Amino acid sequence: MSAILRSRLVGALASPHGVDRYLERFNPMWAAHEVRARIVSIHRETDGDAPVATLTLQPTSTWRGHQAGQHVLVGVEIPGVAKRYTRAFSISSAASGKGERFTLTIRAHDEGQVSSYLVREAAPGQIIHLSQAQGEFTLVESPATPTISRLLFITGGSGITPAMSMIRTLLRDGYQRDGVAHAGRKVTFLHFARSAEDQIFADELAEIAAADNGIDVHLRYGDQVFSEFELRRLVADYRDTDTWLCGPPGLVELVKAAYDDSTRLRMEFFKPAVARAARPGEEIEGDIAFTRSGKTVAASGASILEQAEQAGLTPEFGCRMGICFSCTRTKTVGTVRNILTGEESAVPDEEVRICVTAAAGDCHIDL
Ligand SMILES: Cc1cc2nc3c(=O)[nH]c(=O)nc-3n(C[C@H](O)[C@H](O)[C@H](O)COP(=O)(O)OP(=O)(O)OC[C@H]3O[C@@H](n4cnc5c(N)ncnc54)[C@H](O)[C@@H]3O)c2cc1C
Ligand code: FES
Repeated sequence: MSAILRSRLVGALASPHGVDRYLERFNPMWAAHEVRARIVSIHRETDGDAPVATLTLQPTSTWRGHQAGQHVLVGVEIPGVAKRYTRAFSISSAASGKGERFTLTIRAHDEGQVSSYLVREAAPGQIIHLSQAQGEFTLVESPATPTISRLLFITGGSGITPAMSMIRTLLRDGYQRDGVAHAGRKVTFLHFARSAEDQIFADELAEIAAADNGIDVHLRYGDQVFSEFELRRLVADYRDTDTWLCGPPGLVELVKAAYDDSTRLRMEFFKPAVARAARPGEEIEGDIAFTRSGKTVAASGASILEQAEQAGLTPEFGCRMGICFSCTRTKTVGTVRNILTGEESAVPDEEVRICVTAAAGDCHIDL
Protein backbone atom coordinates (compact mmCIF):
# COMPACT_ATOMS: atom_id res chain seq x y z
CA MET A 1 0.00 0.00 0.00
CA SER A 2 2.69 2.50 0.99
CA ALA A 3 4.58 1.66 -2.23
CA ILE A 4 1.42 2.50 -4.22
CA LEU A 5 1.01 5.78 -2.34
CA ARG A 6 4.63 6.67 -3.09
CA SER A 7 4.29 5.81 -6.79
CA ARG A 8 4.73 8.44 -9.52
CA LEU A 9 1.18 7.87 -10.79
CA VAL A 10 -0.39 8.66 -7.42
CA GLY A 11 2.00 11.59 -7.08
CA ALA A 12 0.87 12.95 -10.45
CA LEU A 13 -2.83 12.50 -9.58
CA ALA A 14 -2.33 14.37 -6.30
CA SER A 15 -0.41 17.22 -8.00
CA PRO A 16 0.12 20.07 -7.19
CA HIS A 17 -0.40 19.52 -3.44
CA GLY A 18 1.13 16.06 -3.16
CA VAL A 19 -0.41 12.89 -1.83
CA ASP A 20 0.40 13.70 1.81
CA ARG A 21 -1.91 16.73 1.73
CA TYR A 22 -4.84 14.42 0.87
CA LEU A 23 -3.91 11.65 3.31
CA GLU A 24 -3.54 14.17 6.11
CA ARG A 25 -7.20 15.17 5.70
CA PHE A 26 -8.38 11.62 6.41
CA ASN A 27 -5.92 10.93 9.21
CA PRO A 28 -2.97 13.11 10.26
CA MET A 29 -0.96 9.97 10.96
CA TRP A 30 -1.19 8.77 7.35
CA ALA A 31 1.75 9.87 5.21
CA ALA A 32 3.53 8.57 2.14
CA HIS A 33 6.61 10.83 2.17
CA GLU A 34 6.49 13.41 4.96
CA VAL A 35 7.13 12.60 8.59
CA ARG A 36 4.70 13.76 11.24
CA ALA A 37 4.21 12.69 14.84
CA ARG A 38 1.44 12.64 17.42
CA ILE A 39 2.41 13.80 20.90
CA VAL A 40 1.61 10.76 23.04
CA SER A 41 2.51 12.23 26.43
CA ILE A 42 4.35 15.13 28.03
CA HIS A 43 6.30 14.49 31.21
CA ARG A 44 7.62 17.43 33.23
CA GLU A 45 11.25 16.67 34.19
CA THR A 46 12.06 19.83 36.17
CA ASP A 47 10.20 22.99 37.18
CA GLY A 48 11.66 26.40 37.97
CA ASP A 49 12.48 29.32 35.68
CA ALA A 50 13.43 27.18 32.70
CA PRO A 51 11.32 24.02 33.05
CA VAL A 52 12.19 20.91 31.08
CA ALA A 53 9.72 18.40 29.64
CA THR A 54 10.04 15.12 27.81
CA LEU A 55 7.66 14.63 24.89
CA THR A 56 6.96 11.07 23.75
CA LEU A 57 6.18 11.03 20.04
CA GLN A 58 4.49 8.45 17.86
CA PRO A 59 5.84 9.11 14.37
CA THR A 60 4.15 8.15 11.11
CA SER A 61 5.30 4.92 9.46
CA THR A 62 7.52 7.07 7.22
CA TRP A 63 9.94 7.63 10.15
CA ARG A 64 13.08 5.67 9.29
CA GLY A 65 14.40 5.48 12.87
CA HIS A 66 17.42 7.14 14.45
CA GLN A 67 20.89 6.40 15.69
CA ALA A 68 21.68 7.41 19.26
CA GLY A 69 22.98 11.00 19.30
CA GLN A 70 21.08 12.23 16.24
CA HIS A 71 18.66 15.16 16.18
CA VAL A 72 15.45 15.90 14.34
CA LEU A 73 14.01 19.11 12.92
CA VAL A 74 10.61 19.80 14.45
CA GLY A 75 8.03 21.96 12.67
CA VAL A 76 5.44 23.52 14.97
CA GLU A 77 2.38 25.62 14.23
CA ILE A 78 1.76 27.83 17.24
CA PRO A 79 -1.94 28.77 17.61
CA GLY A 80 -2.63 32.33 16.49
CA VAL A 81 0.62 32.59 14.50
CA ALA A 82 0.21 31.99 10.79
CA LYS A 83 3.52 30.28 10.16
CA ARG A 84 5.39 27.10 10.97
CA TYR A 85 8.51 27.37 13.13
CA THR A 86 11.35 24.88 12.76
CA ARG A 87 13.80 23.99 15.53
CA ALA A 88 16.32 21.17 16.03
CA PHE A 89 16.05 18.82 19.03
CA SER A 90 18.27 15.88 19.90
CA ILE A 91 16.44 12.63 20.50
CA SER A 92 16.73 11.57 24.13
CA SER A 93 15.46 7.97 23.90
CA ALA A 94 17.48 4.93 22.81
CA ALA A 95 18.01 4.34 19.07
CA SER A 96 14.68 3.77 17.32
CA GLY A 97 13.62 1.69 14.35
CA LYS A 98 11.19 2.43 11.53
CA GLY A 99 7.93 3.93 12.82
CA GLU A 100 8.96 3.48 16.46
CA ARG A 101 8.20 5.94 19.26
CA PHE A 102 10.93 8.21 20.56
CA THR A 103 11.32 11.11 22.97
CA LEU A 104 12.55 14.71 22.88
CA THR A 105 13.60 16.48 26.07
CA ILE A 106 13.18 20.22 25.79
CA ARG A 107 14.09 23.16 28.03
CA ALA A 108 11.69 26.11 27.87
CA HIS A 109 13.77 29.21 27.16
CA ASP A 110 12.42 32.41 28.65
CA GLU A 111 11.75 34.17 25.38
CA GLY A 112 12.04 31.06 23.24
CA GLN A 113 9.02 30.74 21.00
CA VAL A 114 9.07 27.03 20.18
CA SER A 115 10.63 25.56 23.34
CA SER A 116 8.25 27.52 25.58
CA TYR A 117 5.26 26.46 23.53
CA LEU A 118 6.19 22.77 23.50
CA VAL A 119 7.00 22.62 27.22
CA ARG A 120 4.23 24.84 28.58
CA GLU A 121 1.31 24.65 26.15
CA ALA A 122 1.43 21.69 23.79
CA ALA A 123 -0.85 18.77 24.70
CA PRO A 124 -1.05 15.03 24.01
CA GLY A 125 -2.85 14.32 20.75
CA GLN A 126 -1.31 17.27 18.90
CA ILE A 127 0.46 16.65 15.61
CA ILE A 128 3.89 18.10 14.86
CA HIS A 129 6.00 17.94 11.71
CA LEU A 130 9.39 16.22 11.62
CA SER A 131 12.41 15.71 9.43
CA GLN A 132 14.11 12.33 9.35
CA ALA A 133 16.79 11.98 12.02
CA GLN A 134 20.07 13.61 11.06
CA GLY A 135 23.53 14.40 12.40
CA GLU A 136 26.93 12.74 12.74
CA PHE A 137 27.21 13.02 16.52
CA THR A 138 26.56 9.31 17.03
CA LEU A 139 28.12 6.29 18.64
CA VAL A 140 30.81 5.08 16.28
CA GLU A 141 29.33 1.62 16.26
CA SER A 142 25.94 0.63 17.44
CA PRO A 143 24.22 -1.12 19.06
CA ALA A 144 26.90 -3.24 20.73
CA THR A 145 30.02 -1.12 20.04
CA PRO A 146 32.23 -4.24 19.97
CA THR A 147 35.53 -2.50 19.30
CA ILE A 148 35.23 0.50 21.56
CA SER A 149 37.24 0.04 24.72
CA ARG A 150 36.07 2.95 26.80
CA LEU A 151 33.55 5.76 26.35
CA LEU A 152 33.39 9.18 27.92
CA PHE A 153 30.45 11.58 27.85
CA ILE A 154 30.81 15.18 29.01
CA THR A 155 27.62 17.21 28.98
CA GLY A 156 26.11 20.37 30.41
CA GLY A 157 22.46 21.47 30.78
CA SER A 158 20.21 20.31 27.94
CA GLY A 159 23.32 18.91 26.24
CA ILE A 160 22.56 15.75 28.20
CA THR A 161 19.92 14.61 25.68
CA PRO A 162 22.08 13.07 22.91
CA ALA A 163 24.37 11.44 25.52
CA MET A 164 21.32 10.04 27.28
CA SER A 165 20.18 8.46 24.03
CA MET A 166 23.60 6.82 23.68
CA ILE A 167 23.70 5.58 27.28
CA ARG A 168 20.13 4.26 27.05
CA THR A 169 21.04 2.49 23.81
CA LEU A 170 24.13 0.91 25.35
CA LEU A 171 22.17 -0.28 28.38
CA ARG A 172 19.24 -1.56 26.31
CA ASP A 173 21.47 -3.42 23.89
CA GLY A 174 23.75 -4.77 26.59
CA TYR A 175 26.91 -3.67 24.78
CA GLN A 176 28.19 -7.15 25.26
CA ARG A 177 31.34 -8.78 23.94
CA ASP A 178 31.60 -12.55 23.76
CA GLY A 179 28.39 -12.80 25.75
CA VAL A 180 29.81 -10.83 28.68
CA ALA A 181 27.84 -7.72 29.63
CA HIS A 182 29.90 -4.57 29.06
CA ALA A 183 32.96 -6.83 28.82
CA GLY A 184 34.91 -4.86 31.39
CA ARG A 185 34.66 -1.71 29.30
CA LYS A 186 33.94 1.42 31.25
CA VAL A 187 31.62 4.29 30.46
CA THR A 188 32.24 7.56 32.27
CA PHE A 189 29.47 10.14 32.28
CA LEU A 190 30.32 13.60 33.59
CA HIS A 191 27.44 16.08 33.63
CA PHE A 192 27.16 19.71 34.78
CA ALA A 193 23.77 21.10 35.82
CA ARG A 194 22.88 24.45 37.33
CA SER A 195 21.58 22.81 40.54
CA ALA A 196 20.28 19.49 41.86
CA GLU A 197 16.72 20.77 41.22
CA ASP A 198 17.65 21.44 37.59
CA GLN A 199 19.05 17.95 37.08
CA ILE A 200 17.16 16.19 34.27
CA PHE A 201 16.64 12.39 34.57
CA ALA A 202 17.89 12.48 38.19
CA ASP A 203 16.16 9.23 39.28
CA GLU A 204 17.25 7.30 36.22
CA LEU A 205 20.84 8.52 36.59
CA ALA A 206 20.83 7.47 40.26
CA GLU A 207 19.67 3.98 39.19
CA ILE A 208 22.32 3.77 36.49
CA ALA A 209 24.98 4.87 38.98
CA ALA A 210 23.89 2.26 41.54
CA ALA A 211 23.72 -0.69 39.13
CA ASP A 212 26.60 -2.96 38.17
CA ASN A 213 26.73 -1.92 34.54
CA GLY A 214 30.20 -0.44 34.01
CA ILE A 215 28.82 3.11 33.87
CA ASP A 216 30.24 5.69 36.29
CA VAL A 217 28.02 8.73 36.74
CA HIS A 218 29.48 12.02 38.02
CA LEU A 219 27.04 14.90 38.48
CA ARG A 220 28.33 18.39 39.22
CA TYR A 221 26.22 21.36 40.29
CA GLY A 222 26.46 25.13 40.47
CA ASP A 223 30.00 26.45 40.74
CA GLN A 224 31.59 22.99 40.35
CA VAL A 225 32.88 23.86 36.90
CA PHE A 226 34.82 21.64 34.54
CA SER A 227 38.50 21.24 35.31
CA GLU A 228 41.13 19.38 33.35
CA PHE A 229 42.58 18.22 36.65
CA GLU A 230 39.33 16.52 37.64
CA LEU A 231 38.91 14.95 34.21
CA ARG A 232 42.39 13.49 34.41
CA ARG A 233 41.52 12.02 37.81
CA LEU A 234 38.37 10.39 36.38
CA VAL A 235 39.87 9.19 33.08
CA ALA A 236 43.66 9.41 33.13
CA ASP A 237 44.07 8.92 29.37
CA TYR A 238 41.04 11.00 28.37
CA ARG A 239 42.76 12.42 25.26
CA ASP A 240 42.95 8.87 23.89
CA THR A 241 39.38 8.02 24.90
CA ASP A 242 36.38 8.25 22.57
CA THR A 243 34.55 11.25 23.99
CA TRP A 244 31.21 12.88 23.19
CA LEU A 245 30.79 16.50 24.34
CA CYS A 246 27.60 18.57 24.26
CA GLY A 247 26.84 21.59 26.38
CA PRO A 248 26.89 25.38 26.65
CA PRO A 249 29.68 27.31 24.89
CA GLY A 250 31.65 27.95 28.13
CA LEU A 251 31.91 24.23 28.90
CA VAL A 252 32.69 23.36 25.28
CA GLU A 253 35.58 25.85 25.21
CA LEU A 254 37.14 24.48 28.43
CA VAL A 255 36.87 20.86 27.31
CA LYS A 256 38.19 21.62 23.83
CA ALA A 257 41.26 23.27 25.35
CA ALA A 258 41.84 20.21 27.59
CA TYR A 259 41.71 17.88 24.56
CA ASP A 260 44.23 19.95 22.62
CA ASP A 261 42.90 18.98 19.15
CA SER A 262 42.63 15.26 19.98
CA THR A 263 40.50 13.61 17.28
CA ARG A 264 38.87 11.44 19.95
CA LEU A 265 36.70 14.42 20.98
CA ARG A 266 33.37 14.69 19.12
CA MET A 267 31.15 17.71 19.69
CA GLU A 268 27.53 18.69 19.19
CA PHE A 269 26.41 22.31 19.48
CA PHE A 270 22.94 23.58 20.30
CA LYS A 271 24.14 27.11 19.57
CA PRO A 272 26.96 28.00 17.18
CA ALA A 273 30.32 28.00 18.96
CA VAL A 274 31.65 30.69 16.63
CA ALA A 275 29.33 33.64 16.36
CA ARG A 276 31.50 35.92 14.24
CA ALA A 277 33.27 35.53 10.94
CA ALA A 278 35.87 38.24 11.55
CA ARG A 279 39.29 36.73 12.22
CA PRO A 280 41.18 37.94 15.31
CA GLY A 281 42.34 41.51 14.77
CA GLU A 282 40.49 41.78 11.45
CA GLU A 283 38.22 44.73 10.62
CA ILE A 284 35.56 43.94 8.05
CA GLU A 285 35.16 46.82 5.63
CA GLY A 286 31.93 47.11 3.70
CA ASP A 287 28.17 47.45 3.96
CA ILE A 288 25.34 44.96 3.83
CA ALA A 289 22.45 46.25 1.73
CA PHE A 290 19.13 44.52 2.48
CA THR A 291 17.71 45.23 -0.93
CA ARG A 292 14.05 44.31 -0.38
CA SER A 293 13.65 46.48 2.74
CA GLY A 294 16.00 49.23 1.59
CA LYS A 295 18.12 49.12 4.79
CA THR A 296 21.93 49.23 4.83
CA VAL A 297 24.23 48.43 7.76
CA ALA A 298 28.00 48.38 8.19
CA ALA A 299 29.31 44.79 8.10
CA SER A 300 30.46 43.87 11.62
CA GLY A 301 31.55 40.26 11.17
CA ALA A 302 28.41 38.95 12.91
CA SER A 303 26.10 36.67 10.94
CA ILE A 304 23.86 38.34 8.35
CA LEU A 305 20.90 37.02 10.36
CA GLU A 306 22.07 38.82 13.51
CA GLN A 307 22.85 41.98 11.57
CA ALA A 308 19.40 41.90 9.94
CA GLU A 309 17.73 41.44 13.35
CA GLN A 310 19.76 44.33 14.79
CA ALA A 311 18.49 46.44 11.87
CA GLY A 312 14.91 45.63 12.90
CA LEU A 313 14.21 42.99 10.26
CA THR A 314 12.66 39.65 11.19
CA PRO A 315 13.96 37.08 8.74
CA GLU A 316 12.79 33.49 8.92
CA PHE A 317 15.12 31.23 10.95
CA GLY A 318 15.06 27.79 12.55
CA CYS A 319 18.20 26.26 14.03
CA ARG A 320 20.52 29.29 13.77
CA MET A 321 23.20 26.63 13.19
CA GLY A 322 23.20 26.07 9.43
CA ILE A 323 21.35 22.77 9.54
CA CYS A 324 17.68 23.47 8.76
CA PHE A 325 17.98 25.82 5.73
CA SER A 326 14.96 27.91 6.87
CA CYS A 327 17.01 31.12 6.74
CA THR A 328 18.25 30.67 3.14
CA ARG A 329 18.24 33.95 1.18
CA THR A 330 19.83 35.11 -2.04
CA LYS A 331 23.04 37.08 -1.92
CA THR A 332 22.83 38.93 -5.22
CA VAL A 333 26.21 40.69 -5.16
CA GLY A 334 29.37 40.71 -3.01
CA THR A 335 31.64 38.50 -0.93
CA VAL A 336 30.48 36.50 2.07
CA ARG A 337 32.20 34.15 4.50
CA ASN A 338 30.88 30.96 6.03
CA ILE A 339 31.24 31.41 9.80
CA LEU A 340 31.70 27.70 10.47
CA THR A 341 34.23 26.87 7.76
CA GLY A 342 35.82 30.27 7.06
CA GLU A 343 35.24 29.67 3.32
CA GLU A 344 34.65 32.81 1.22
CA SER A 345 32.46 33.12 -1.84
CA ALA A 346 31.86 35.91 -4.34
CA VAL A 347 29.49 34.03 -6.68
CA PRO A 348 26.57 36.28 -7.71
CA ASP A 349 22.94 35.24 -7.08
CA GLU A 350 23.97 32.64 -4.57
CA GLU A 351 21.68 31.01 -1.98
CA VAL A 352 23.21 31.44 1.46
CA ARG A 353 22.14 30.38 4.96
CA ILE A 354 22.28 33.76 6.62
CA CYS A 355 22.60 32.31 10.16
CA VAL A 356 26.09 30.97 9.37
CA THR A 357 27.13 33.53 6.77
CA ALA A 358 28.69 36.93 7.34
CA ALA A 359 29.63 39.71 4.95
CA ALA A 360 33.36 39.77 4.13
CA GLY A 361 32.96 43.14 2.32
CA ASP A 362 30.13 44.95 0.51
CA CYS A 363 27.23 42.68 -0.28
CA HIS A 364 23.56 42.74 -1.24
CA ILE A 365 21.04 40.39 0.34
CA ASP A 366 17.52 39.87 -0.95
CA LEU A 367 15.85 40.64 2.36
C1 LIG B 1 21.53 20.01 16.90
C2 LIG B 1 20.69 20.68 17.96
C3 LIG B 1 20.10 19.91 18.95
C4 LIG B 1 19.35 20.53 19.94
N1 LIG B 1 18.79 19.75 20.91
C5 LIG B 1 18.09 20.31 21.91
C6 LIG B 1 17.53 19.51 22.95
O1 LIG B 1 17.67 18.28 22.96
N2 LIG B 1 16.84 20.13 23.93
C7 LIG B 1 16.67 21.50 23.96
O2 LIG B 1 16.02 22.01 24.87
N3 LIG B 1 17.19 22.28 22.97
C8 LIG B 1 17.88 21.72 21.95
N4 LIG B 1 18.39 22.51 20.96
C9 LIG B 1 18.11 23.96 20.96
C10 LIG B 1 16.79 24.23 20.23
O3 LIG B 1 16.91 23.93 18.85
C11 LIG B 1 16.34 25.69 20.28
O4 LIG B 1 17.37 26.52 19.85
C12 LIG B 1 15.93 26.13 21.67
O5 LIG B 1 14.91 25.27 22.14
C13 LIG B 1 15.39 27.56 21.63
O6 LIG B 1 14.38 27.65 20.66
P1 LIG B 1 13.14 28.63 20.84
O7 LIG B 1 12.28 28.59 19.63
O8 LIG B 1 12.45 28.36 22.10
O9 LIG B 1 13.84 30.02 20.95
P2 LIG B 1 13.97 31.13 19.81
O10 LIG B 1 12.67 31.80 19.65
O11 LIG B 1 14.59 30.50 18.62
O12 LIG B 1 15.00 32.08 20.49
C14 LIG B 1 16.30 31.58 20.81
C15 LIG B 1 17.32 32.69 20.78
O13 LIG B 1 17.40 33.19 19.46
C16 LIG B 1 17.66 34.56 19.46
N5 LIG B 1 16.59 35.30 18.79
C17 LIG B 1 15.37 34.84 18.47
N6 LIG B 1 14.65 35.76 17.85
C18 LIG B 1 15.43 36.86 17.78
C19 LIG B 1 15.25 38.16 17.26
N7 LIG B 1 14.10 38.52 16.64
N8 LIG B 1 16.25 39.04 17.38
C20 LIG B 1 17.41 38.68 17.97
N9 LIG B 1 17.65 37.47 18.47
C21 LIG B 1 16.67 36.58 18.39
C22 LIG B 1 17.77 34.95 20.89
O14 LIG B 1 19.13 34.85 21.24
C23 LIG B 1 16.99 33.89 21.62
O15 LIG B 1 17.41 33.76 22.95
C24 LIG B 1 19.15 21.93 19.94
C25 LIG B 1 19.74 22.70 18.93
C26 LIG B 1 20.49 22.09 17.95
C27 LIG B 1 21.10 22.94 16.87
S1 FES C 1 18.36 28.94 10.69
FE1 FES C 1 18.68 26.85 10.21
S2 FES C 1 20.09 26.99 8.56
FE2 FES C 1 19.87 28.99 9.23
